[in-house]
Formats: sequence, C-alpha cells, structure tokens
Amino acid sequence: MEEKRGISAAGEQYFRFLAEMGVTKHFGSYNVTRELIERCQIGAGQAVLDVGCGVGATPSLMAQEIGCRVTGVDITPPMLARARERAGRVGVARQIDLCAGDACALPFADHRFDAVICESVVVFVADKQRAVDEFARVTRPGGYVGLTEVTLLQPTDDTEFLAYMNRVAGCQGEMLSKEAWAAHLARAGLADVTARAYRLDMREEAKGRLRRYSLRDVLAALARLPRMWLRDPEAKAFLQQTAGGTKHLCTETFDYMGYGVYVGRVGEDSS
Ligand SMILES: C[S@@+](CC[C@H](N)C(=O)[O-])C[C@H]1O[C@@H](n2cnc3c(N)ncnc32)[C@H](O)[C@@H]1O
Repeated sequence: MEEKRGISAAGEQYFRFLAEMGVTKHFGSYNVTRELIERCQIGAGQAVLDVGCGVGATPSLMAQEIGCRVTGVDITPPMLARARERAGRVGVARQIDLCAGDACALPFADHRFDAVICESVVVFVADKQRAVDEFARVTRPGGYVGLTEVTLLQPTDDTEFLAYMNRVAGCQGEMLSKEAWAAHLARAGLADVTARAYRLDMREEAKGRLRRYSLRDVLAALARLPRMWLRDPEAKAFLQQTAGGTKHLCTETFDYMGYGVYVGRVGEDSS
C-alpha cells in the first residue's frame, strides 16, 4: 500500500472504521496507560501530549484521574470529533485541547510539554525514528517520553500473519523487538531509556477495556456494527477482510506478538 502522509492507505481505512465504531485500543489497555502515567511521572497540573489519541479515552482518563492538562493530536479527523464528544460527556472539556496533526510533523513548538505519551501509533508510521524524534523535540528538558507499542517477543517465520497485520491493520514495516523500540528512543537522544515487554493476556485485555470504556461505550460501539455493515460498503469490506484474517491467528501468535512500554527522559541540558 502506498504511504500517504504518515499513514498507509490500509491504516486510513482501519482508522476510519474504528472512528465510526467509537472505540480505539492499545494492548495492555487501562493498566498500561497507568504504567505510562507513573513511569513518565505525570502529575496534576502538567501539560501532557497524547499523540494519536484516537477517540480520546486516555486524554479524558488523565484529566479525570490525574488532573493534568492534555493535548490530543490525531491524523484522523473523525477521531477528534469522538474525543471532543467524550471530553464533554465526562466533564473534562476545559482540560483537553484536541487538534489534527501527524506524529512525524507535530504542530507544536520545541519543549512545549512536560510529557509526551503515545499508545499504539508508531507501529503504523513508516518513519518511526522521525516520529520519536518529534516526541523528544516537543518535550521540555527533564520531561519524559513514553510509548506503548506492539512488540515482537521472539523471532518467528509466521510471515502470513505479519503480512496480514500490514495489509489489514495498516502496520508499516517489520514488527519490532523490545531492543529495536528502545534503540529508537536512544537515537532520539533520550536518556535513561527503559523497556519492558509483556505477553498478551486476553482476560486482562477484556477487563482493561471495560475499565477504559464504560459498558455503555462498548455496547454503543457494538450496536453501530449492523448499521455499518448494511450502509457502509467500505466498513463491510473491512469487516470481511478482518474476519478472513482470523485464520492466520493461532495460539503461537501470542508466543511472539506482545506489547512493550518504552520510556526515556529528555536531558536537562537539551536546548
Ligand atoms: C490503534 S489507534 C490507538 C488510539 C489511542 N492511542 C488508543 O490507545 O486508544 C491508532 C491511532 O493513531 C492515529 N494515527 C495513526 N497514524 C498517525 C500519525 N502519523 N499521526 C497521528 N496520529 C496517527 C490513528 O488515527 C488512530 O487514532
């Protein structure tokens, strides 16, 4: 698929589908967001950027639970409409700014934020180093950059599944190991880089998603599916492709596909 801005055509289709449904996700869900908040030392009153904020679950959560001021940026405009609606609904609209933008060319001045977090976004970007460099650029000296991304836990020759991830979900490039993700942070000039990789636990995933979204959100998303199937040919094609791809999933997939949390700090002398 041809790359268009920082996103592939398959990625664009996938994100339009998710925005229409009204839910976005990252592996590790609620627990990983809390881990990022803790490891990036995010506290009340801080200015935090969430890159690729999707439907805005993390900005709303951080505003509600931590009391920080959050800017959410996303390349898919309908995501921002959902994020805006959520922020209003949970009563944190005044703490959240939302704007369209590309992770590879962030529309912010240098050193603007106390922390930058990014949950399951860079995996979809062709030039991963450029994105991580941008995260470091907009973080103040002494501030943190934290990512959570799909991670290759061990080498695999399951090329069919990996090709499916590119073709349907719009991931770009190879699936990266923990070491490869950490190297991107180090090359961006970040100090004290830490990397932790986790295996997927589907029960924990389900619990985390219910904690991140209310039961009402999940039911509303599911209720939109029949209408999308009947009225939106693109969404229907996407659903068919996704269902067809499950034949590539096997128990071994979860031996090599997990996720990682990567955190680094911008040096105090960074100018
Ligand atoms: C898998 S979703 C994750 C959304 C959110 N972070 C979450 O955890 O729920 C990926 C998001 O990244 C956004 N995205 C993809 N490529 C991007 C880019 N180059 N710049 C900014 N956002 C991007 C998509 O529009 C989508 O909302």
